[in-house]
Amino acid sequence: MEQLPSARGFPTGFRWGVATSAPQIEGAADRRGASIWDAFAAQPGKVHGGDDLSVACDHVNRYRDDVALMRDLGIQAYRFSVAWPRVEPGASGVFSSTGLDFYDSLVDELLAAGIDPVVTLYHWDLPLELDSIGGWTSRDVAHRFADYAMAVHDRLGDRVSMWATLNEPWCAAFLGYAAGVHAPGQTDPAASVAAVHHLLLSHGLAVQALRVGGATDLGIVLNTWPNHAAEGAGPEVLDAVRRIDGLVTRIFTDPLLTGEYPHDVRNDLAPWLDQVVRGDDLATISVPIDWLGVNYYHDDVFEPATVGVDDGLTCGGWPYPRVEGVRLAPAGPDATDIGWPVTPAGLHHHLVRLRDLYPNLPPIYVTENGAAYDDPIAPDGTIDDARRLTFLAAHISALADAIADGVDVRGYFAWSLLDNFEWAEGYSMRFGIVHVDFETQVRTPRRSALWYAEFIRSGAALDRLVP
Ligand code: GCO
Repeated sequence: MEQLPSARGFPTGFRWGVATSAPQIEGAADRRGASIWDAFAAQPGKVHGGDDLSVACDHVNRYRDDVALMRDLGIQAYRFSVAWPRVEPGASGVFSSTGLDFYDSLVDELLAAGIDPVVTLYHWDLPLELDSIGGWTSRDVAHRFADYAMAVHDRLGDRVSMWATLNEPWCAAFLGYAAGVHAPGQTDPAASVAAVHHLLLSHGLAVQALRVGGATDLGIVLNTWPNHAAEGAGPEVLDAVRRIDGLVTRIFTDPLLTGEYPHDVRNDLAPWLDQVVRGDDLATISVPIDWLGVNYYHDDVFEPATVGVDDGLTCGGWPYPRVEGVRLAPAGPDATDIGWPVTPAGLHHHLVRLRDLYPNLPPIYVTENGAAYDDPIAPDGTIDDARRLTFLAAHISALADAIADGVDVRGYFAWSLLDNFEWAEGYSMRFGIVHVDFETQVRTPRRSALWYAEFIRSGAALDRLVP
């Protein structure tokens, strides 16, 4: 539906979508190679309840019904990821036609339903065999990723126009190689810095290769968010926030958009970063992209800590030596089930900050935004997830504010279509606008899904955002 331009609202052609990822929903693990997340989930204590990815939402077998569900909700774009281990089982260098067949069928089903496919090439499920050569600490894996990206584009590029190379390299590098709470479960800050660099390099190499293959709508998805010092905090907190902002946002956005690592970050991480950066890597990393994906969930606030009582900044995957006297402020009483604060204004302010920091900032898509709430199923079978609905409406309203302030935003993807495998939390944290009964695989649209459908059908009428 043509959307009327307005001083505060959404531009014509703005796309309203939902997002998922292969490892979190596909299942059918017996029909793909193993990933580092299969190996990580198999380790006792790593994933809540010992949950694994073997069945998940059984999406490989149920994708036609899931596409029909999106069609009935009026979803305009569907962001999903391709599982590298399904396309290149065993990381053998041979790309599986059968594995690609699934994505072929999924794309055709989406197009037949009038839904734009948006493909993420890497959503953390590295083929396990590549972990044995160092995973993302290995420069060679960056080149292997570009080969894999080309194989997927060769098969789908005639029907898929919008491509993201990576999803959230911050998580893949820092949670996976420094905090040890994500696959592959390493706790080595130097390894995490090498992973940052090789992930960024893999992005640049893939963009170069995909351009040769004719791709014209390429981006990367970052989970970049605002980090603040509490009111009146002293210099140690202010310096910690500078460091964290460097490691959460600028270590990615600066190389991608300016072709250089931030000077302060390079100093903070010396000598680790200097040991892995070579030749014209930064020129490769900063090859122009057509859009930047921002996954936004919440702000973080840091405050003074009682040394010896609070655990300082060794939590949350911060990849640098313990920072005494500083802690993450408690999320407060309205935190979501996963313990994150609800800070919609942060989305507005963060996008404006990115625009001001980077004059060449490409168009933005909010490629993920959502909340974990597990509301009960009523006797009539409905699920009144009012808190999720309020969360989504507040963040979409904040997005309208950012657009009104001149940020070029082209689309919004709710995370997630379905309840799914929430990494170390397993299936205990429910982010779906659609409830999944993992015993029966029955899907039940929550009130937020029905509201989102109506909001889209209304042409994104702002009065529907009023709580
Ligand atoms: C991420 C990932 C998703 C998560 C979602 C909720 O942003 O961390 O892209 O896979 O499931 O964000 O944590």
